[in-house]
Amino acid sequence: MRNGRMPSALLVLASVLTVTTVALDNGLMRTPPMGWLAWERFRCDIDCEQDPKNCISEKLFIDMADRLSEDGWRELGYVYVNIDDCWSSMERDKQGRLQPDPKRFPGGIQKLARYMHDRGLKLGIYGDMGTHTCGGYPGTPLDKIKIDAQTFADWEVDMLKFDGCYSNSIEQAQGYPLMSKALNATGRPIGYSCSWPAYQGGLPPKVNYTQLGEICNLWRNYGDIQDSWDSVMSIVDWFFENQDVLTPAAGPGRWNDPDMVIIII
Ligand SMILES: *[C@@H]1O[C@H](CO)[C@@H](O)[C@H](O)[C@H]1NC(C)=O
Ligand SMILES: *[C@@H]1O[C@H](CO)[C@@H](O)[C@H](O)[C@H]1NC(C)=O
Repeated sequence: MRNGRMPSALLVLASVLTVTTVALDNGLMRTPPMGWLAWERFRCDIDCEQDPKNCISEKLFIDMADRLSEDGWRELGYVYVNIDDCWSSMERDKQGRLQPDPKRFPGGIQKLARYMHDRGLKLGIYGDMGTHTCGGYPGTPLDKIKIDAQTFADWEVDMLKFDGCYSNSIEQAQGYPLMSKALNATGRPIGYSCSWPAYQGGLPPKVNYTQLGEICNLWRNYGDIQDSWDSVMSIVDWFFENQDVLTPAAGPGRWNDPDMVIIII
C-alpha cells in the first residue's frame, strides 16, 4: 500500500471443510468474511489532538477504505471496514439512540457507510451485549436491543460485532438470540458476529454451536489476538486441539472466527 504498511487486518480463517447445516437465513457471508478491523492495532485511542493519524475517528476508517479500494485489497475480497469499540459518545441521544462521538465522527455513521458503499465496500460497527462496552462506552442491555438494531439499520451498516462485556451468562443467552431477531426485523441484511462463545469458554456443553449457527453468521470462539507471534500460536493451537468440535460448526453463512491476523507489508 502507498504508505508502506497495512497495520492490521481481519482475515477469518474459518474452516475450509463445510458440512450441510442450517445457517442464519439472511443470505450473508456464504464465504468467510474478509476485511479490516480497528481493534488489534488502534485499540481505544481517542486522543485525536495528540494522535490524529491513529485515533478512532472517521478519518481512520476513510483512510482504510481508500487503502482497500485503491491498493487491490477489495478485488481480493477484503470488503469489510469494521469499527470496533470506542466510537460512540458517552451519552445516548434524547430519543435513547446510540450516537457517534461528535468530534471524532462529525459526518456521522451513515455518511461513513455511504463512503464504503460508493467504493464497493461494507461498513461494520461494534456493540456490546451488556450495560457497557469493554471500553466503558454505552452498551446494549436487553431493553435497548431493538432500538440499537434499528439505529444500525437506519445508518445502513452492513455488519455488527456484538461483544459481551458487562453481562452475565443468563443475559447473554437471552440477548444474543434477541439481537439476531431484532436485526432481521429491521429488514436490512446485517452480518451478525457474536462474541458470545468466547465469554463461555468456546466449547460445549456451555456453548451450543447448533444454536449459534442458527442465529449468528460468525462467532468469536476464543480470546483476542495480541500483537505477538505467541498470541497467534496460542490461537492456532486452541483451534487445532478443538477442531473436532469446531469444524462441523462451520459452513456457508456460519463461521468460526479466530480473530484477525496481523499483516505487516
Ligand atoms: C429474516 O428471516 C427470514 C426467515 O428466516 C428470512 O427469510 C429473511 O431473509 C430475513 N431477513 C433479513 C433482513 O435478514
Ligand atoms: C442446541 O441448540 C439447538 C438449536 O437451537 C437445540 O435444538 C438443541 O436442543 C440445543 N442443544 C442443547 C444441548 O441444548
